[in-house]
Amino acid sequence: MITTANIEDIRHQVNQWRKQGETVAFVPTMGNLHQGHITLVEEAVRRADHVVASIFVNPMQFGQNEDLDAYPRTLADDQAALVAAGATLLFTPTPEIIYPKGLDNQSYVEVPNISDIFCGDSRPGHFRGVATIVCKLFNIVQPDIAVFGRKDFQQLMVIQTMVEDLSMPIEIVGVDTIREASGLAMSSRNGYLSVEEKQIAPILKQVMDETAASVSQGKSVQNAVILAKQTLIENGLKPDYFEVCNAKDLAAPQANDRSLVILAAAYLGKTRLIDNLCFER
Ligand code: PAJ
Repeated sequence: MITTANIEDIRHQVNQWRKQGETVAFVPTMGNLHQGHITLVEEAVRRADHVVASIFVNPMQFGQNEDLDAYPRTLADDQAALVAAGATLLFTPTPEIIYPKGLDNQSYVEVPNISDIFCGDSRPGHFRGVATIVCKLFNIVQPDIAVFGRKDFQQLMVIQTMVEDLSMPIEIVGVDTIREASGLAMSSRNGYLSVEEKQIAPILKQVMDETAASVSQGKSVQNAVILAKQTLIENGLKPDYFEVCNAKDLAAPQANDRSLVILAAAYLGKTRLIDNLCFER
């Protein structure tokens, strides 16, 4: 696997493959890779001749008081995991390479409505940062396919909407959430959890399961959500949001909507956990 911070190296290599009629799948990440990321790479390997991954902790998607500086950086381990999974090219740019004019003096991509709710409401500007970096990375790599996790359900929707609205010729593939044996969704931020917090964190998934079960049995969404938030608080989790939505557009579910999704974010100490669960009723 070639690792490079250089945009021209990426373009050159991908062009070589294209000339030979070979396909390219892309997996963008912020590094500190775990089995969730690796599953995306494995899916990419199955779908294309070559897999390009990127590791870039994107300052544009972090708020003022968020964990940009503390975000774990583990390049050597990440490279070994990517090689084992079959990636052939790794892009590791610096902020100066990606944003030579600085963050405030740079064109951006804004996906309306979907970017303003849930994580977008709690983290103003977050999805603008995500859409902008993913658009830039797509323009650098020019893949046929790009693979994302359903763990970040709203992010996947933002990217699908951007690709559709801006007619980007890229197939977006979603991969199911990979979890610890405890049910906790794998996340680079789980490394912030203390031993005690690790015992508590799986309760988020348990509460989502209970909520899905009771809504499927015909109980009121509103009551199920109130109970879920109470249970989280009783167990030491502080819900940021916990909502049952229509899985198609994240609107409030109407009586005849069958495909639903629970979107949840909760603080455990200083760590913000996010998770979601799709279900039918
Ligand atoms: P990051 O959090 O590193 O995640 C990279 C990709 O891995 C995303 O598509 C995410 O949904 C997926 N992922 C993370 N945990 C997962 C899990 N437990 N199971 C399955 N997939 C999982 O998401 C980002 O980086 C950034 O916002 C990025 C898209 C790279 C733009 O900067």
